[in-house]
Amino acid sequence: MAECIRDEYLTPMLLYLVLLGTAHAAHSIYPRIRLSHNELWQLNRTWVFQAHGASLQPQTMVLDEGHERLYVGAKNTLFSLSLDQVNTHHREIQWASTESQIEECLMKGREKPECANYIKVLQQFNHTHLLVCGTGAFNPVCAQVRIGHSRQDRLFALEEDSVTSGRGRCPYNPKSPCTSTLSRGELYIGLYTDYWENDGALCRLNNQTYTRTERDDRQQLSGPKFVGSAVIPDNDDRDDDKVYFFFTEREMDAEGLNKAVYTRVGRVCANDQGGQRMLVNRWSSFLKTRLICSVAGPNGIDTHFDDLEDVFVLKNKDGKNPEIFGLFSTTSAVFKGYAVCVYNMDDIRAAFNGPFAYREKPEHRWTPYEDRVPYPRPGSCASKVNGGGFSSSKEFPDEVLRFVRSHPVMHSPVLPRHRRPVLLQTEPGGRKLTQIAVDRVQAQDGHYHVLYIGTDDSVVLKVITFYNKDTDTMEEVLLEELQLFKVSAPIREMIISPKRQQLYVGSEAGVAQVRLHQCDLYGSECADCCLARDPYCAWDGLTCSRFYPAGVYTKSRRFRRQDVRHGNAVQLCNGLQIDGSEERSVYGVENNSTLLECVPRSLQAKVLWFFQTGGEKQEVRDDERVITISHGLLFLHVRSSDAGVYVCQTVEHGYVNTLLRITLHVLRGERVESTIHRANDEEGEKSAPPCHSSSDAPPDPSLSPRVLVTSSIPGRHSRLWYKEFLKLIGYGDAQRVAEYCEKVWCTDKKRKKTKKRFVSPGGEKRWKERGEENSNRAPRHTLGT
Ligand SMILES: *[C@@H]1O[C@H](CO)[C@@H](O)[C@H](O)[C@H]1NC(C)=O
Ligand SMILES: *[C@@H]1O[C@H](CO)[C@@H](O)[C@H](O)[C@H]1NC(C)=O
Ligand SMILES: *[C@@H]1O[C@H](CO)[C@@H](O)[C@H](O)[C@H]1NC(C)=O
Ligand SMILES: *[C@@H]1O[C@H](CO)[C@@H](O)[C@H](O)[C@H]1NC(C)=O
Ligand SMILES: *[C@@H]1O[C@H](CO)[C@@H](O)[C@H](O)[C@H]1NC(C)=O
Repeated sequence: MAECIRDEYLTPMLLYLVLLGTAHAAHSIYPRIRLSHNELWQLNRTWVFQAHGASLQPQTMVLDEGHERLYVGAKNTLFSLSLDQVNTHHREIQWASTESQIEECLMKGREKPECANYIKVLQQFNHTHLLVCGTGAFNPVCAQVRIGHSRQDRLFALEEDSVTSGRGRCPYNPKSPCTSTLSRGELYIGLYTDYWENDGALCRLNNQTYTRTERDDRQQLSGPKFVGSAVIPDNDDRDDDKVYFFFTEREMDAEGLNKAVYTRVGRVCANDQGGQRMLVNRWSSFLKTRLICSVAGPNGIDTHFDDLEDVFVLKNKDGKNPEIFGLFSTTSAVFKGYAVCVYNMDDIRAAFNGPFAYREKPEHRWTPYEDRVPYPRPGSCASKVNGGGFSSSKEFPDEVLRFVRSHPVMHSPVLPRHRRPVLLQTEPGGRKLTQIAVDRVQAQDGHYHVLYIGTDDSVVLKVITFYNKDTDTMEEVLLEELQLFKVSAPIREMIISPKRQQLYVGSEAGVAQVRLHQCDLYGSECADCCLARDPYCAWDGLTCSRFYPAGVYTKSRRFRRQDVRHGNAVQLCNGLQIDGSEERSVYGVENNSTLLECVPRSLQAKVLWFFQTGGEKQEVRDDERVITISHGLLFLHVRSSDAGVYVCQTVEHGYVNTLLRITLHVLRGERVESTIHRANDEEGEKSAPPCHSSSDAPPDPSLSPRVLVTSSIPGRHSRLWYKEFLKLIGYGDAQRVAEYCEKVWCTDKKRKKTKKRFVSPGGEKRWKERGEENSNRAPRHTLGT
């Protein structure tokens, strides 16, 4: 049971089919809303801290709500950022290695970039001090940093006389995985303690002792990658507190053929003092078991996600039963898939209370250990809850210590809640997922977990997932896709502040903060809000706004409409839809192309076009002259018989909405020609309406206009006309322009003539005001705003 069938031998295609065949409900791969860096910026939803334009290389971050600061351990520098606005009032401590240290590092054959001081351990030691450790050019160092008593104290200084060797407390190699947590003045850390990275260890340090796993004991740890750690109490007896470590290991599989990767949860007692005669300064309570995250396929072949990428411990009120979220990837070299699994503490504890695993020889299979287990039960803590017979682990009988040392593995693995991932990403060629953070949100119909998932390309995905009991499936709703950094960089760190409703995100490109929700973006109508299914948001009768559960704000609570589970706008917003569909006129020139633009706010909505004749509505279908593109309905050669009223309708989650009615007028060619010439004559050559083929290339002045969109007859001032024209092709959206141009507009010959001088007029000013360099990207035109 413990070591199941693996996917190593499956081809990617087969694996893909296996996953398709699972009981995972279909989900949209489109977010409801996608926001680029510039859009987030314009909406004041994000702030980005960049360190002098240099690569930040954040290794670790700590949230300090008391001092209202975010500490970031980076290359040669420790930053203290404002939680209000990360890009203002920052403080920093430069802590680089000395010349001689760097020289020594280079002499050891290391590369220059490795020979810096990367801050990898950062913990709030007490109210006034941080504990900081860095790699110190392959010569780890630790120090205390003073942060003052209150947030008014602007103190942020390294205590020079506190600098000590960081050996055993910080890895040598900046790339070396490491996890740490601090509790009651003691540092728990999983790391490689040596220069050559042979000695992976789980350790505890305080001012007197250093307790750790055995050296060179491959039963205890085998090629570990340390991912996460947390102190989690079992009950009210603090002597029974356990420290949990999440890591992967490389082990021979059951057949003894391959070295396979497995994810483990390991634990020790926080009060473990080691043994008296044996296991001196070694854990006397270390046990571990496997965390399984897999998808059942047909024929009983499970697809395993065995490589833990990140772990998030979502604390509950009393701290005893947090929910553990693991972000996993497949270990297959040919296919990269990702999954998120959730574990209950009850299930983790049950595995540690279950049978020990036993095998006679390394090449044998694991079986449950069925002989007598000594007393006190190996792995239990010296606490009152356990009878109080032992005041310290040093009093444990040798028999107990011998047993725990030779049986560190539990037989039962920990299975995820609902025995399946809550989220899956299996599209071949999909983006890599790197980080996870989770917020628990109270909505009208219950609690939801909002998952924030960081990717390798600067994006954070905001997702809710829930279990459907009736169909025994999971449903995922991708609410938002937020591109936090302008350049593409893997997201390395993520911290949520539920208090501030902010997410703090670290990458090489900087540290960004982003508000967790922006309800008005979904639209102002009941249906828009309801269909969004964002548990943070509800329709309050006027707008889509932040939802607070009853009792939080008792004064003047209006009736709130929200349906996260079903997004049933038909039912919820029945009778509330004002026929707010916009009316427009579009002018097309006979035999030329014309676009009827209609872009729904939601990327999950399906657009349908109808032609209205008399009282009848007839669906418009694509043919050789008319095609539906993502921006609307495109006539390649408009005819006078095409004139009439077109209705743009969306269908989302069964809810039908009319967005737009467009009256298409078709003009005879000669008439337009003469109007344009008149206009050009008035304006002169310079302002002739240009064409452009990419967002920053200028339109081609040599081209005569072929498409008109205006709400009045053309012939007026051509500058206005030109603006309308740019609006049509959405000059801010490169993809859109490219798509449009490819289809109808610019031939190669014309494209060659384009020059780079075009700058967006609208976006420029504000970006400058907000201190960021101008970008040519203007906001996308959305309807109804
Ligand atoms: C963003 O903030 C600026 C001032 O800081 C304000 O002028 C602007 O209206 C805000 N934009 C939005 C979309 O709220
Ligand atoms: C925090 O720890 C530092 C270093 O051990 C010590 O000097 C300081 O007094 C402590 N502060 C408090 C408030 O306990
Ligand atoms: C450190 O040691 C001193 C005495 O040596 C002790 O009083 C103190 O409690 C210890 N601190 C911690 C955090 O263990
Ligand atoms: C489009 O319109 C222009 C000017 O009105 C005309 O010269 C051109 O021939 C038209 N193109 C097509 C394909 O009919
Ligand atoms: C449009 O094309 C048709 C046939 O392709 C032609 O008969 C007609 O004269 C053209 N109209 C204009 C205004 O160019």
